Amino acid sequence: MIRSYLARPGRSYSTDSARRLEGKVALITGGASGIGKTTAHEFIKHGARVIIADVDSQTGPQAADELGPAAHFVHCDVTAEAQVENAVEIAMTRYGKLDIMYNNAGITGPSFPPSIADLDLNEFDKIMQINARGVVAGIKHAARAMIPAGSGCILCTSSISGLMGGLGPHSYAASKSTIPGIVKSAASELCGNGVRINCISPGPVPTPLSLDQIGLFYPGASREQLTEMVNGLGKLKGAKCEEIDVAKAALFLASDEAKYITGHNLVVDGGLTCFTNLALPPPREFV
Ligand SMILES: NC(=O)c1ccc[n+]([C@@H]2O[C@H](COP(=O)([O-])OP(=O)(O)OC[C@H]3O[C@@H](n4cnc5c(N)ncnc54)[C@H](O)[C@@H]3O)[C@@H](O)[C@H]2O)c1
Repeated sequence: MIRSYLARPGRSYSTDSARRLEGKVALITGGASGIGKTTAHEFIKHGARVIIADVDSQTGPQAADELGPAAHFVHCDVTAEAQVENAVEIAMTRYGKLDIMYNNAGITGPSFPPSIADLDLNEFDKIMQINARGVVAGIKHAARAMIPAGSGCILCTSSISGLMGGLGPHSYAASKSTIPGIVKSAASELCGNGVRINCISPGPVPTPLSLDQIGLFYPGASREQLTEMVNGLGKLKGAKCEEIDVAKAALFLASDEAKYITGHNLVVDGGLTCFTNLALPPPREFV
């Protein structure tokens, strides 16, 4: 079977050096920093043109400059639906199509007060506006561009905080847990239009988002020390979760290699959420 597939003219397995998004147009929210910026770089390396849609009007244009002529910055606050619509329209006007929409913008929100009993519901609403509503707005406007085209790929960044309790502030965890659900719901409809939609749930990655958050608990710690702390949270020996690991997952899902994958939540956490060890006392403490 495999041999006959490979024998077909024009068919071959892609290698890392192949340009897997040649000619594609992508829009990445939260593309000015961290995971979004690294993904923009990876997409461009593989032949895509990328719209960086971010609320940060300072680092956004800088990121686009660094990434070169295939990158273009658009100011976009994902909580304002009209701005998300505008970013999609800019992609359509500039490049005539939108192949990939990556709804990645997100914030963690405050870690204090930590107790659910003291939760500030206005803060909760704010996190939901960005992390959940912002993603839904991105899906909606990408769908408007992709349904008539009969193809396209939508990606969203969730988090392992949406899979297990105890990994982030309550509001953040709640907001991220909505994303795999939204993805499945949208997949049920978009399947019929040839549009794929998936999400990625990363483990802790040392980006401004996680370092700023953990830095609140260790006010005297340097950036290097905080990075080491975040890297030390993994379980997989000999590896640490880096922005590029999430970017490579996004590249795979956006590429034709994932042409039959939709409604999926790709967890990129080195096994962190797939097991827990029972805390039994050592036998010698028991006899
Ligand atoms: N870093 C981690 O450990 C980690 C783990 C799991 C999931 N994530 C998720 O990955 C995504 C990217 O985070 P990151 O770690 O790269 O953080 P980051 O802070 O480096 O990047 C987030 C980007 O989103 C932008 N943004 C924030 N609010 C916005 C808004 N309202 N509209 C448009 N843009 C906005 C910021 O300006 C920034 O450029 C987030 O959704 C985050 O929740 C991060």
